[in-house]
Amino acid sequence: MKRFLLSAAVLLSALAFAYAGEGAPAPQIVNVYGRETVSLDGLWKTIVDPYENGYYNYRMDPHSDASSYFADRDFDADRTVLYEYNFNTDRTLMVPGDWNTQRDELYYYEGTVWYRNIFDYQPKPGRRTFIYFGAANYEAIIGLDGKKIARHVGGYTPFNVEVTGMLKETGNSLIVKVDNKRHADGVPTLNSDWWNYGGLTRSVMIVETPMTFIRDYSVQLDPDDVEKIEGWVQLDGKQARQDVVVTIAELNVKQTIRTDSKGFARFEIKARPELWCPENPKLYDVNIASETDSVTDRIGFRTVKTRGTEILLNGEPVFCKGVSIHEEMPYSGSGRAYSEDHARILLGWAKEMGCNFVRLAHYPHNEHMVRVAEEMGLMVWSEIPVYWTIQFENPQTYANAEAQLVDMITRDRNRANVIIWSVANETPRGAARLDFLKRLIDKTREMDPTRLVSAAMEKDNIDAVTVTVKDELVDYVDLISFNQYVGWYDGSSEKCDRMNWVFNIKKPVFISEFGGGAVYGRHGDVTERFTEEYQEDLYQRSVNMLERIEGLAGTTPWILKDFRSPRRQIVGIQDDFNRKGLISDQGGKKKAFYVMKKWYETH
Ligand code: GCU
Repeated sequence: MKRFLLSAAVLLSALAFAYAGEGAPAPQIVNVYGRETVSLDGLWKTIVDPYENGYYNYRMDPHSDASSYFADRDFDADRTVLYEYNFNTDRTLMVPGDWNTQRDELYYYEGTVWYRNIFDYQPKPGRRTFIYFGAANYEAIIGLDGKKIARHVGGYTPFNVEVTGMLKETGNSLIVKVDNKRHADGVPTLNSDWWNYGGLTRSVMIVETPMTFIRDYSVQLDPDDVEKIEGWVQLDGKQARQDVVVTIAELNVKQTIRTDSKGFARFEIKARPELWCPENPKLYDVNIASETDSVTDRIGFRTVKTRGTEILLNGEPVFCKGVSIHEEMPYSGSGRAYSEDHARILLGWAKEMGCNFVRLAHYPHNEHMVRVAEEMGLMVWSEIPVYWTIQFENPQTYANAEAQLVDMITRDRNRANVIIWSVANETPRGAARLDFLKRLIDKTREMDPTRLVSAAMEKDNIDAVTVTVKDELVDYVDLISFNQYVGWYDGSSEKCDRMNWVFNIKKPVFISEFGGGAVYGRHGDVTERFTEEYQEDLYQRSVNMLERIEGLAGTTPWILKDFRSPRRQIVGIQDDFNRKGLISDQGGKKKAFYVMKKWYETH
């Protein structure tokens, strides 16, 4: 018995010790590009560690920090001691960026890569410091100067770790264990139709703030009163009760509010802002200044609602002329997109097609994509990767999905162009899935009652050529949105001509995916799959079919650009690319691109 108690105590202390430094990151700081930051982007030293040798011992017990790679031992300093790892090599990776497209040997790699950045920093008295990650796919464990300090799960949402008082003038050793292994209980789960790009895929930076700072805020138009701007401010720090002034100079608005003991305050401002819309994507400089901090953001004001089968933007019906987009580089074959330039090219193509809307599939894209779309007048459907066969019965999976939802909304709640939050894509129906998604929908509406909530739902055939949506979810979302592939996965293109679509509830219909594949430059008979002619004909028959759908309020054909997927394996045709792009992975516009362009000109 004594031995049992001893081993249990050892195990518990080991677990406690191992997880001591893997707490949750600090609450997300919004609008980091409007703050004082120091970039940590650039070449980081790396160790590829498929067996997680740097984290576990040979019995798969977590190492102590001192025995782990977080210790960052200098192999060359003392050759009398055995260390079997060394960061001081030429094995580097560019941050931001996925590792798959930076090194041939990492093309399919799914596992751990250790990243190290040694940096100098001039700690500023009276300031707090955080290390902010735009995203790390999929799990990241952060270590500073040999100590684990935080852990984050989720490959597409930002997180920041407070390091106030922990940085020194020279030689700060920041080590991040990034592991992109897929997990059955993950979000997404094991199976998805996109490449599992791993790494520090978005920028890393030090964010400096006053001791009490403006961490989060909401500035929106009252959904029911276009002459009222409402919102709230959340301070973070000991000096919670402060006067905060909200200024929108162009509207002659300046209002002072007082935060409570929790640093929180709401406000309402009478104003008549020019309303944001695709034709006039008007943004205002909004300054929020507390007694200790000041932050400025570019914010647009608009309302979005539904009325019967219409989507109303600023009270007027709008048809969402969209396209779906994966977060991939516009050229150079593939790789995670991360920069403003990437965003401008991808969204420029959408504008060239005549779009006023983009579906950022299947996960929150980098912040540049959303902000550039806002400037360009592109409305956005933003979603979390609750995709396909998620473990809907698993409470940890739900917690993960909800955390990603909260982080997505927190980051982008002030972006006027985001009009739809989506909680799922093509998830198999069932009681557990319905409960899981209803909880996510409730959380979305609780956090943000100003936007529409959607999901790409399942459809039902009434007969071979008559389709409806009976998915139980339809009662809880604002749109009847679903993906359909008549002419690709369901028959050939001519079947589009025979289709009927019937819906027995009055909500806007939104076709969130349609289309088919083509290899850019491959030409042949219109009946031959993967030719540009087949895709062109499919698109023409598809839009003719869309014309017949009563209550259609928008569509986002699948997809702007060919994108890499391990599921697409026809050598010489797919070569690990899903070829449904209207544009090739090298930027070539296929014939179907012009079908959409022409159709959007008439809508
Ligand atoms: C599905 C899915 C996409 C996928 C597409 C396809 O609808 O939502 O993620 O890429 O079909 O099969 O190409």
